[in-house]
Amino acid sequence: MVNADHKKYVFSSMRDQVQLRGFDDALRGFDGTDAVLPALYRKNIAGMLLSQDQIGQGLAAVAAQLNRDYERYEIQGAAPVVLVTVLHGAMVFSSDLMRQLCFPFKTDSIAVSSYEGTESTGTYQVKKDISHPVAGKQVLLVEDIVDTGGTLDFLAQHIKTKNPASLQTVALLDKADRRKPQFAHVSADYTCFVIPDVFVIGYGLDYEGYFRGMPFVAVKKT
Ligand code: IMP
Ligand code: MG
Repeated sequence: MVNADHKKYVFSSMRDQVQLRGFDDALRGFDGTDAVLPALYRKNIAGMLLSQDQIGQGLAAVAAQLNRDYERYEIQGAAPVVLVTVLHGAMVFSSDLMRQLCFPFKTDSIAVSSYEGTESTGTYQVKKDISHPVAGKQVLLVEDIVDTGGTLDFLAQHIKTKNPASLQTVALLDKADRRKPQFAHVSADYTCFVIPDVFVIGYGLDYEGYFRGMPFVAVKKT
């Protein structure tokens, strides 16, 4: 079994320190050129929490562990792997992650709603379900961030009703201090970064639909 002892991995923890980097120098343009950061973005960013380099390091660490765990699995001739991206927040993370995975997998996606503005509504709804049956398959669910824990808990329960052979979860970010008591047990099996209680945008994460395309993770100005 992959990860048979169900060990959980956290690759970087910055729970207590909010070290915001100025982005004026780093970010004349996303690609280091003189392109202008959109005014909408500029006025909403308090500072940069994770640079593209830091994200790359987190990705490499999580991919290496997944490769170790799932390669072994493949050799044992286990069931096919389906990588399920949680839309839309995880699409940037997932597309970078999947290009570092050295085992075969198919892809699918799921969309769930709960958030309005910067607060979770606490009620969850599947907006778009997985398109193909995952019964008997190894589901690897890729999420952008675990906050109160409700979404991941809801998604895990929802996917388990489809009888996968296994379910493992990967999250780019975890705001561990925000977990609601009833979801205290909830965390991803693989977490790239534990971060403090701040609202983050960029690298797939949105505020009211915007900012997903920023290639770094920033803290939203309040
Ligand atoms: P939870 O159900 O409270 O754990 O919230 C998880 C979902 O809320 C994530 O999948 C995100 O889409 C969204 N979310 C939570 N925190 C943030 C944030 O800081 N920035 C952007 N989206 C967030
Ligand atoms: Mg969202």
